[in-house]
Amino acid sequence: MDKPKNLTMVIFGASGDLTFRKLIPSLYALYNQKMLPDKFHVLGVSRTVITDDSFREKMQEGIRKFSENIHLDEQQISEFTSHLSYFQMDMSVEEEYSRLKAALNERNMTEGTDSNYLFYLSMPPAMFGVISDNLGRAGLSDPFDGFRRLIIEKPFGYDLASGLELNRKLHQSFAEDQIYRIDHYLGKETVQNLLVMRFSNGIFEPLWNRNYVHHVEITSAESIGVEGRGGYYDGSGALRDMLQNHLLQVVGLTAMEPPSAMDADSIRNETLKVLQSLRPIRKEDVPLQVIRGQYTASNINGEVIPGYREEPGVNAESRTETFVAVKFFIDSWRWGGVPFYIRTGKSLPTRVTEVVVHFKPTPHGLFQQDEACRSCNQLIIRIQPDEGILLKFGMKQPGAGFNVKSVNMDFHYSDLSDVHLPSAYERLLYDAMTGDSTLYARADAVEAAWKFVAPIQEVWNNDPTQKIYGYPAGTWGPENADSLIEDKEMTWRYPCASLTETGNYCEL
Ligand code: BG6
Repeated sequence: MDKPKNLTMVIFGASGDLTFRKLIPSLYALYNQKMLPDKFHVLGVSRTVITDDSFREKMQEGIRKFSENIHLDEQQISEFTSHLSYFQMDMSVEEEYSRLKAALNERNMTEGTDSNYLFYLSMPPAMFGVISDNLGRAGLSDPFDGFRRLIIEKPFGYDLASGLELNRKLHQSFAEDQIYRIDHYLGKETVQNLLVMRFSNGIFEPLWNRNYVHHVEITSAESIGVEGRGGYYDGSGALRDMLQNHLLQVVGLTAMEPPSAMDADSIRNETLKVLQSLRPIRKEDVPLQVIRGQYTASNINGEVIPGYREEPGVNAESRTETFVAVKFFIDSWRWGGVPFYIRTGKSLPTRVTEVVVHFKPTPHGLFQQDEACRSCNQLIIRIQPDEGILLKFGMKQPGAGFNVKSVNMDFHYSDLSDVHLPSAYERLLYDAMTGDSTLYARADAVEAAWKFVAPIQEVWNNDPTQKIYGYPAGTWGPENADSLIEDKEMTWRYPCASLTETGNYCEL
């Protein structure tokens, strides 16, 4: 494993939750695995007035609380946090950036971090352009004496126009190859495994097309509701929060052509082609191809679950969707005529994300196949939890006759017990440090994804007669989503937390 070059990472928004829960614990995990540079410094920046010592103490607490799959060593935690310091400033004021520059020069000299800067904007999106402009004006974006990289978190705009505007703004100070747009789904080990599974095995690729695939289903379900994020979520909704970014990226990796090489440009060129080939949904087809839902109050095992409109921060008459299901097509040689279905929502029966490739039934039915086996051949790529892969196929039921039974062949990542599964942030931060942008979303891909969702947004925003269906919290969304799958003998898969189990009501 190559070590990144010496660097200073500057976290804007260092007093926020993301820094405490994800960024610092992930940096510690990298430190623990000796994957940080020999000389590094982390400068936390925000408006809050705190001392270096209390910043370090707070970050130590975050490491203890939120580190995943890593052995915690107190001595090592304190060594790691000795590389942290804090800088208070108002990030909206241009003049403040000369102070920041001086502080960075000083750290650079004392820590020997070779003028390489990685800026992480853990900030509300309205500040992305402001900070990148100010970094540019202060001469902090120009990579003349070391690298300058900028990491931002979604949302990358809220529609096509604002997405384009954000990219234009960022490009005023940073070149595209200096910008790293985090989509934490691309940081998930199992999402990356889609590439390895498809392109390191000879057996899947010949079947991965319209000749053999009946349809592809992608589900990302969460059992939690909006969990105190009502204020943010009510202005976003499932389409923007999950589908436009995370799930379309997963579609890109599932449907892409083999890249010519395993490098950032080759891979991102191929995923871009998929996103550009998504057939635009005509406005009149939105109600037929897109189902939106909102969870209503319910009672699960005696526990009363409030409806979405009763959540703090949510408008009592909100029409924001907490569930969305979409049927769409990819207009390409490989996928012509194959329907793709995406479904995502909050307050569903379980937390699960998976891609299911449903293969076509045999052309001639020789055997008595029960209903379960009509769509027998499914390849399920489980992204979370119980990460793994499951292949379903038909076998002879023992005994008289030739009855077919659906059986499973499965692999679970947990079987590789000796392997540390890095968290998404761990993987992505390391990649940004080494300058590998393969798992980051490129400007053109983000724009193509906005373009695809644009007609849906337009219809929902402008036509108050468009339906939003209620579904009781803890169920699989509105029943209308079932009607998207036209083949009457096929349904959505109803997965449970364990890869091998399914059911409308999963064991909690
Ligand atoms: C975030 C969304 O991007 O992804 C959240 O803003 C959502 O609303 C989360 O809960 C889901 O991520 P994961 O990794 O838990 O599937």
